[in-house]
Amino acid sequence: MKPQTAHREFWGSKMGFVFAAMGSAVGLANIIRFPYLVGANGGAAFIAIYLICLVVLSFPIFIAELLLGRACHRNPAGAFEDIGGTKTWRYAGCFTILTGFFVSGFYAVVSGWVVGYLADAVQGSLLVIDSSAGAESFFYMHLRTPLWSLGMQICFVLLAAVILFSGVRNGLERASKFLMPVLILLLLYMAMTGLDADNAQRGLHFLFDLQWHEVTPTACLLALGQAFFTLSLGQGTMITYGSYLNRKTNLFVIGVPVVVADTIISILGAIAVFTIVFSVGMEPDSGMALMFKTLPIAFNSMPNGYFLSISFFALLALAALTSQISAMEPAIAYLMDERGWSRKRAVVVVSIGVFLIGIPCAMSYNVLNVFDFVATGVLIPIGGLLVTLLLGWRWGIKKSIRQLNFGLEGATFNQPMLELYFTLCVKYLAPLAIFAIALQVLFT
Ligand code: PHE
Repeated sequence: MKPQTAHREFWGSKMGFVFAAMGSAVGLANIIRFPYLVGANGGAAFIAIYLICLVVLSFPIFIAELLLGRACHRNPAGAFEDIGGTKTWRYAGCFTILTGFFVSGFYAVVSGWVVGYLADAVQGSLLVIDSSAGAESFFYMHLRTPLWSLGMQICFVLLAAVILFSGVRNGLERASKFLMPVLILLLLYMAMTGLDADNAQRGLHFLFDLQWHEVTPTACLLALGQAFFTLSLGQGTMITYGSYLNRKTNLFVIGVPVVVADTIISILGAIAVFTIVFSVGMEPDSGMALMFKTLPIAFNSMPNGYFLSISFFALLALAALTSQISAMEPAIAYLMDERGWSRKRAVVVVSIGVFLIGIPCAMSYNVLNVFDFVATGVLIPIGGLLVTLLLGWRWGIKKSIRQLNFGLEGATFNQPMLELYFTLCVKYLAPLAIFAIALQVLFT
């Protein structure tokens, strides 16, 4: 393996890593996508399937990505090359970096809209939204003002760039340590307000009633996709975050809290969203419509609507920002490691690239949807598959396990069981499951 580059930074502490990885994992998908998936696909039955997907698929790949980064202390392209030994594997690593770059392009556009709505909420402009038609014309009025869309996108990318400028410890770590607790407080406020509202139990029923008949194969694949996306897998992020860990870190001890917190936040988000929506007698919508239409109307029907809409869009903006920086970091790490660029130069170039790639999405809602579909349905699953093939088959599970065991010495849990779990999931189950997603995407 190549020696580490002299400039490479490390996390300041295990907690620092946990907050940063949590910041990456908790994003728009937790608050917007997860609730609707649960409500529309069998409630608690969907949650059960989702948890199984997390345990047998996402969590092992999450650990595998961290392990890969930690083994090489390089960006994904360098790490893939170190372990795979050929240029082809290096290209595979580049592919994951480009996926992260691509994701950050359209993520910044939607996040820009969130920032714009936050500004509207603070000014009280959202208070006029009282019907679906009103919400829609408000949304499209903004979108038809390209300067609004592009302006908000620039603001958001600039915010991300400011954090990224300061590096791993002072940027990624410090920002996440500060922003994540604020996010959790806002979420608790929203969930408590929802639970306190009339008819909250209707929302809870929609969310948690066990409806096994709604758990179709498609629902299982949606659960799998969500479990994958929420942990920011398949796009070089966790490989890069792992590359800032030192070899003595126990990957399970730092990985478990991230996944547990991410799951709890998703469930709390779902509780907040549905208790509020049902309490005002509305039906939930999905994705963008839920975010920009249903919820603003619902907030305005509640006594503390002004604070609720500010809290909600602030919550989304924080979740999006800590995810955005994590999607841009692999490309920055690549330019620093492989091209010898300074962090500042890499951040400037990546930020401009992210802005440019987002422009078509900011201009057209359809293009945005295509980008979203290509990234989440195609590129990310392929990225995850490449990691499992590299560690499970190319490097070999024995070497991967040896690497995994660094940091596990003296741990109290049953090591052979852990090894069996890792082998089974990374070598066999995960590639098969990803293959199943790919088939689903291709044939539906
Ligand atoms: N984990 C993020 C989410 O749930 C997804 C993401 C991470 C997107 C990193 C982009 C970059 O929204």
